[in-house]
Amino acid sequence: MADADKLVKQTHALDRDCTTLSRHVLQQLQSFSAEAQDLSALMGRIALAAKLVSRRLSRAGLVEGVLGFTGDVNVQGESVKRMDVYANEVFISVFKQSGLVCRLASEEMDKPYYIPENCPIGRYTLLYDPIDGSSNIDSNLNIGSIFSIRQQEGTDENGEAKDLLQHGRKQLAAGYILYGPSTMLVYSIGNGVHSFTLDPSLGEFILSTENIQIPEHGSIYSVNEGNFWQWDESIRDYIRYVHRHEGYTARYGGALVGDFHRILFEGGVFLYPGTLKNPDGKLRLLYETAPLAFLVEQAGGRASTGTEEILDVVPEKLHTRTPVIIGSKEDVELVESFIQDRTREQTESLTAPS
Ligand code: AHG
Ligand code: MN
Ligand code: MN
Repeated sequence: MADADKLVKQTHALDRDCTTLSRHVLQQLQSFSAEAQDLSALMGRIALAAKLVSRRLSRAGLVEGVLGFTGDVNVQGESVKRMDVYANEVFISVFKQSGLVCRLASEEMDKPYYIPENCPIGRYTLLYDPIDGSSNIDSNLNIGSIFSIRQQEGTDENGEAKDLLQHGRKQLAAGYILYGPSTMLVYSIGNGVHSFTLDPSLGEFILSTENIQIPEHGSIYSVNEGNFWQWDESIRDYIRYVHRHEGYTARYGGALVGDFHRILFEGGVFLYPGTLKNPDGKLRLLYETAPLAFLVEQAGGRASTGTEEILDVVPEKLHTRTPVIIGSKEDVELVESFIQDRTREQTESLTAPS
């Protein structure tokens, strides 16, 4: 290869190594406005939190007191893992120093955590699931963190955080970190979906894939079939369909972030429908399904409750849950078609002359 070509290749490789998360945000916004700087700084803090969690996970089996349960039960009624608490604290501490975030709303906290000194009007709220897929931690399988950034609206004096009870199209940014064989951060600020890979030798997240587009259709369906006995007949109809037709393959990792990440890149659909025990499903809107719905729409996919778009759902409370069907357009529509068929049948049977 001629020297000139080598130089071009080298420069390109260097440019790529210098496309860090903060720089990418500013490139995305093509602006150095105060808001652009804010978002860039916020994403930089998310990256720092991700590195701290990733570092602890990488040595979890060697250090006392990292794995296992705390013995407490959280606001969700779920047993809390030590890593849930650690990661929750990491995000609080990282954002405390940021001066940008007034409030943090977490899956692990009943009420939002306030940082009063940061709460002049127009500051931001971070909503997050500090560790998603906690059941995977002790078996060293992939887990994640999910985040969403919204504008703080009003003063919220009585700490009710009512301004957070708005639809998901109010999100300014959303994304997740996947703690897998490599640690990846996937985000969107409404201008496409982009993935970054942590380069441990640099201690930086470096751009790996820009403008991710989810395939229109994929063979993967991802659902916990152990809940079959608890599902509505329409969901059972869908499962019977994929069991009886060629071209489908089941993949379920028990951690939303890993299951969603696979579908974002390969296509298909993830679903967590309502069950007898949890009619609204298990997953929480504000810091699990709405952030991922924001991403999947940016990537050309869809996210539905089965009857409405996830991003249009207005939560009644901070920890509202919704059923979720998310992934490739065609595959989400296929699941919805079984729901519509059953609804039509029920309507017809109610209106049929007796
Ligand atoms: P979290 O660990 O934050 O509570 O989330 C766990 C969620 C989600 O990651 C996953 O899709 C789902 O729980 C798995 O639930 P089941 O074990 O009921 O399948
Ligand atoms: Mn979760
Ligand atoms: Mn969690």
